[in-house]
Amino acid sequence: MDDQAEAVTDRATTPGDPEPDRQAETGHRARRTFAIISHPDAGKTTLTEKLLLAGGAIEMAGAVRSKGDGRRAKSDWMEIEKSRGISVTSSVMTFEKHGITFNLLDTPGHSDFSEDTYRTLTAVDSAIMVIDAAKGIETQTRKLFEICRLRDIPIVTFINKIDREGRDPFELLDEIEEMLALSVAPVVWPVGQGGQFKGCYDLASNYFLAAGGERQVTHTEGLDDPALAALIPADIYAPFRDAAALASEGYADLDPVAYRQGHLTPVIFGSALQNFAVDRLLGLIAAHAPAPRPQPSDKGPVDPDGDRVSGFVFKVQANMDPKHRDRVAFVRFCSGHFKRGMKLDHVRSGKALAVSNPIYFFAQERARTEEAFAGDVIGIPNHGTLRVGDTLSEGENFRFTGLPAFAPEVLRRVRLEDSMKLKQLRRALDDLAEEGLVQVFRPLIGSTWIVGVVGPLQLDVLASRIAAEYKADVTFEPVSSNVARWIRSDSDAALAAFIKDNVTHVARDRDERPVFLCRDDWDLRFTMERNKDIIFDATREIV
Ligand code: G4P
Repeated sequence: MDDQAEAVTDRATTPGDPEPDRQAETGHRARRTFAIISHPDAGKTTLTEKLLLAGGAIEMAGAVRSKGDGRRAKSDWMEIEKSRGISVTSSVMTFEKHGITFNLLDTPGHSDFSEDTYRTLTAVDSAIMVIDAAKGIETQTRKLFEICRLRDIPIVTFINKIDREGRDPFELLDEIEEMLALSVAPVVWPVGQGGQFKGCYDLASNYFLAAGGERQVTHTEGLDDPALAALIPADIYAPFRDAAALASEGYADLDPVAYRQGHLTPVIFGSALQNFAVDRLLGLIAAHAPAPRPQPSDKGPVDPDGDRVSGFVFKVQANMDPKHRDRVAFVRFCSGHFKRGMKLDHVRSGKALAVSNPIYFFAQERARTEEAFAGDVIGIPNHGTLRVGDTLSEGENFRFTGLPAFAPEVLRRVRLEDSMKLKQLRRALDDLAEEGLVQVFRPLIGSTWIVGVVGPLQLDVLASRIAAEYKADVTFEPVSSNVARWIRSDSDAALAAFIKDNVTHVARDRDERPVFLCRDDWDLRFTMERNKDIIFDATREIV
């Protein structure tokens, strides 16, 4: 962390968009629930920290980082043992600014996807895409972007690290337009880059935020204002002026409707580390990002204006407090005005659930909350009653839809080092599968467990968490199968016959659904060709 940057963070402000009439925005209309998507190292942790700082949720830069080794308290699973406290509480971060309650949902940052990331994106209304100015769009940014697009999640782009040498701004904007098929509307433009970085210019409001010790904010009459020219060395001003004028002319204007429909991304060039344009980013989210949107359900979209409380569980976290072995279910509210102590229907079981101890998450603390609106996320401690995908409602019988589960891409047999620890292993796999860290399959023949993950890194995380939290040592062995598909059929008899004929290749998932395991894609295609009455699913909806 740069000491100088830390010293000036609180004073750094960029005037945001004209403030909408906040009086009119109360309840769910004053909520902005969003996530940050990025490739590892683009600066998500740093930006999160600066957003919390801007929102007054933390008082000191560096607080989101691990206390232990002083570096990267990332919310990564890989870091979980080192920085357990912060990574857990940072699953949801709530803070207030501009009369708006912001709920920032964390997505795991490691390069292998866990289901958790996808599910978290089902619970947000918008996203910030962080791009490293030197690298442009990277693989994980792109994958996450595709998920956002599937769900029509609008995106603001923050091109980070402009204080370092990076690629040409036009090249970066064109890359976004071409690779993501998205119009770009530059809002904040860099004045110089790398060693020549002199600040940022707001193309919409004509403010100039100067870099350097004092960080002056100056309102100008436009790019040709002599007052602006006087603030920037001539050799940097001239090319900046031309480029900024070209950018204003050549790209779309910030059209809030096109942004909310997902056709256009406002772009801010800034620096998370130096806290440049972070306030502007927050102001833009406050002014233009959508308030809670209707959520899909089996009985049609659920309107956030609805009077009755409803919400769904998008994430479950086991062992938040290792001493108590509790689980916390994270619920995103979708309608109504929730009050502590309310009895909600747990639609899957048909039972009532008294929510007497709901938790809100502020940067590093959790606190009991008295109320929540659509868009808010609370944690409900429970002992396994609540599962991912569950719907809670106030006397209505429907369920939210659209939470995906994906067929794993890596399969391994679990080998337990000490056979006396079987009970612990069973519990661990159950808990961690519930969290979405891993999928667990029981082959019909044999007595071992097969675990499935999206990327191999998750296996390291799995082993280290089983060792740390359940005191059992495991290793993973390759299996002959590399592909898994859920199987179903319109004909029960056909499905039963298929399972009988392929009994050595069929397993059951933790919900007892049959899964076909085969060697590779070729093998899968071959089997599909020969079994037209069987449907092989690579994804399924969590019900
Ligand atoms: P991530 O969560 O997306 O993985 O990224 P993170 O914030 O951890 O940032 C990755 C590295 O990039 C960090 O450096 C961080 O300080 C640096 N960084 C983030 N934003 C900026 C920026 O605006 N400008 C510059 N110059 N650097 C930035 P590191 O050396 O890997 O870690 P650290 O020792 O600084 O923590």
